[in-house]
Amino acid sequence: MMLDNFVSAEELARQAGLSSKVCELIRNKNLTAFVITLGCQQNEADSERIRGVLRSLGYTITQDETIADIIIVNTCAIREHAEKRALSIIGRYKHNKTRNPDTIIGVCGCMPAQEHRLNQLKHSYHYVDFVFGTGSLHRLPEFVYNALTKGKRMFVMDEERPKIAEGLPVIRESAHKAWVSIMYGCNNFCTYCIVPYVRGRERSRLPEDIINEIKALVDSGCKDITLLGQNVNSYGKELEGGYNISYLLREIASLEGEFWVHLMTSHPKDASDELVHALGAGENIANCFHLPLQSGSDAILKKMNRHYDIERYMSIINKLKQTHKDIVLTTDIIVGFPGETDDDFEKTLDIIKQVEYDSVYTFLFSPRRGTPAYEMENQIPEHIKKARFERLNEVQNEISRAKNEAMIGKTVKVLVDGKSKNNDQIYTSRTEGNKIVHFEADEDYTGKFINIKITRADTFALYGEI
Ligand code: SAH
Ligand code: SF4
Ligand code: F3S
Repeated sequence: MMLDNFVSAEELARQAGLSSKVCELIRNKNLTAFVITLGCQQNEADSERIRGVLRSLGYTITQDETIADIIIVNTCAIREHAEKRALSIIGRYKHNKTRNPDTIIGVCGCMPAQEHRLNQLKHSYHYVDFVFGTGSLHRLPEFVYNALTKGKRMFVMDEERPKIAEGLPVIRESAHKAWVSIMYGCNNFCTYCIVPYVRGRERSRLPEDIINEIKALVDSGCKDITLLGQNVNSYGKELEGGYNISYLLREIASLEGEFWVHLMTSHPKDASDELVHALGAGENIANCFHLPLQSGSDAILKKMNRHYDIERYMSIINKLKQTHKDIVLTTDIIVGFPGETDDDFEKTLDIIKQVEYDSVYTFLFSPRRGTPAYEMENQIPEHIKKARFERLNEVQNEISRAKNEAMIGKTVKVLVDGKSKNNDQIYTSRTEGNKIVHFEADEDYTGKFINIKITRADTFALYGEI
């Protein structure tokens, strides 16, 4: 069944019309735009489109928030801390409006897709001109036009299943690394997670749109491409033609050019044998896999609505290890989910020791209003969550360090990111498994692949020489 996935040509034409009007209105005024991004790579990717659209409207993108004529705050709602940060950032732009009442302020991303947050922005942040959901980004010309012509404040929420807008302009952060969204939204409703409520149901881009975008990126010199989706393993489910993530990987593997492809993120319940094999379809598919575990206890996984147990999870891990020598494995863990006992937590530690991940992203459970876990009994006190968090990191840091030290003496291919932030002589680069490698160089290799011999290692980075 092919669902009606796309924003109509009429709507895109209407936005293009409004875009011309904005260009007309701000011509010769030298106006600037500032976009600030919180949250995950999905938001980073959206912000690159937002900057692209703003530039097409005639704004120059600035890094200076104090002088910007338009400010867009792209928010995250995954944990309480992310929302607090977003609100405090939005709060500080009140002064921009006091200084210059013509400043336009927009808020988007995941946070305002929750009704209570939308109301809060409406009633307590009067200087915010417009608010829109992640599925309404293509309407930015309309929001800006409305604000410039002093229309009423706009609060635009997405439908349950927002449509995909293809062909929006983009300004990418990096010339050699790129995010390519292959699907949007999530259908999984893990009981702790806000994402399905704020990003709507799953919808996939067409394979030809994705492949063409990747071809153009590779032709322009891009060396590292991350295919993005909340669960890339369910890519294509609603498309006609039987497309899936493995098909996509095989197609990408057959493209000309030297580049790496990464996936972000895979849900274990849909990680098929076909996918495990497709990772070996070509040199350019990076030999690494991020497979979020969340918990090592079957009882907790069930309460999380994850639809796999440890036996199934470990069978995927073992297949990955058997099929792809030296594969780099990473995961996400939540500690302190409601009802998590010491015993449940020990089971998580056991899996971490068994798998020996290269790195683990650990999160303290943060109750999200509107999700089932928010209402669950036996919420875990903060001090216990923190103690578990620290214990887990201690165990994992040992493992990460040992795995990094095992690389000493080896020569690895890296993609050079650029000069290190704190030292001009040192360059930072990444292996195909996303491990950080620092090295000294007289020549600037930014954006190039080079070979580095590893001479030293610690928990979070490798060091070496060309
Ligand atoms: N779609 C991705 C996850 C996106 S959110 C996936 O399923 O892998 C990234 C990570 O944030 C999740 O894997 C989870 O570990 C964590 N997370 C999500 N909701 C959370 C919450 N309420 N509290 C703490 N961590 C959470
Ligand atoms: Fe959230 Fe689960 Fe969807 Fe990931 S798969 S975005 S954790 S609901
Ligand atoms: Fe945050 Fe939304 Fe990503 S809630 S983690 S920005 S999908």
